[in-house]
Amino acid sequence: MTSLTIARPDDWHLHLRDGAMMRAVLPHTAQHFARAIIMPNLVPPVVTGAQALAYRDRILAALPEGMDFAPLMTLYLTEDTDPDDVEAAHASGLVKAVKLYPAGATTNSASGVADFGKIRDTLDRMAKIGLPLCVHGEVTDGDVDIFDREAVFIDRVLDPLRRATPGLRVVMEHITTSNAVDYARAQDDTLAATITTHHLVINRNHILAGGIKPHYYCLPVAKREEHRLALRNAATSGETRFFLGTDSAPHTDANKLLPCGCAGCFTAPNTMAILAQVFEEDAALDHLETFTSRNGPNFYGLPVNDTTITLTKTPSTMPTHVNTEEGPVTVFDPGFPLEWSAH
Ligand code: DOR
Ligand code: ZN
Repeated sequence: MTSLTIARPDDWHLHLRDGAMMRAVLPHTAQHFARAIIMPNLVPPVVTGAQALAYRDRILAALPEGMDFAPLMTLYLTEDTDPDDVEAAHASGLVKAVKLYPAGATTNSASGVADFGKIRDTLDRMAKIGLPLCVHGEVTDGDVDIFDREAVFIDRVLDPLRRATPGLRVVMEHITTSNAVDYARAQDDTLAATITTHHLVINRNHILAGGIKPHYYCLPVAKREEHRLALRNAATSGETRFFLGTDSAPHTDANKLLPCGCAGCFTAPNTMAILAQVFEEDAALDHLETFTSRNGPNFYGLPVNDTTITLTKTPSTMPTHVNTEEGPVTVFDPGFPLEWSAH
């Protein structure tokens, strides 16, 4: 196959940031994606419906003339979140999900949840109104090895939380382990899981073998090769519960290359070209549209986009950096030349 036209993809997990950074990165998502679930981990976080509305307006104002893109807003769940505000933001059509960060799990997660008892009323309300919970699934306990934090989260937090909140729709975000794939496959259709592009391409050797590579450091951190292969199997399977959430997370090089550097891979510019290659390698190009364009809207109860994107088997060259007023941001390097182009 040398050309593939599919329904326009959506990104079900994206960091757009704000201000100058947002203006620089937004066109890279909007050129390929019709919609994206926008992460609320700004400083300060997007906690209320009013804050989400203001953030959406800033995104739309930053969208270059002639580009068509719909930001799907989320609220950042805190121990003080007001269930009535969540319900109103959902009822108005503004907010499509609520995001749960365990306190301290990742970038700007200090306002996240430490005492899960304190979010009970909000979770019950979300189950009642059918609003999905997007979960950063890692425990933060210092005594749990960072490579085990996702698997431990499933047993200690996620499964009890779901049992205590029947009917709650949950997205396990950016899964990185075979444990998460197995768990997702064993659940009913209230549970889905997103997979990033970079976790289909790198394992932990990419970060640590032959010198430390900060641009491959993200959270959850990439795991062993056997886990990457389990993710490839899940993403390319065509199963309805798995869909794309890139977790494209731009940081300036200055912030990545510190003694304590930021977590995140910036994949917005080359995600679709990389995915075409991954799915072709796994003889699964017929499932690419399912993963990028159909399963996500199906879970969120939204229509599949009626516009299309065409992928052609012509080598693409990506810029290594995107320049922003805050400094350059390195584009994720998959480690192989791109054989596909996205139009
Ligand atoms: O690598 C990551 N970067 N993982 C996250 O969960 C947050 C994100 C960010 O905001 O930079
Ligand atoms: Zn993220």
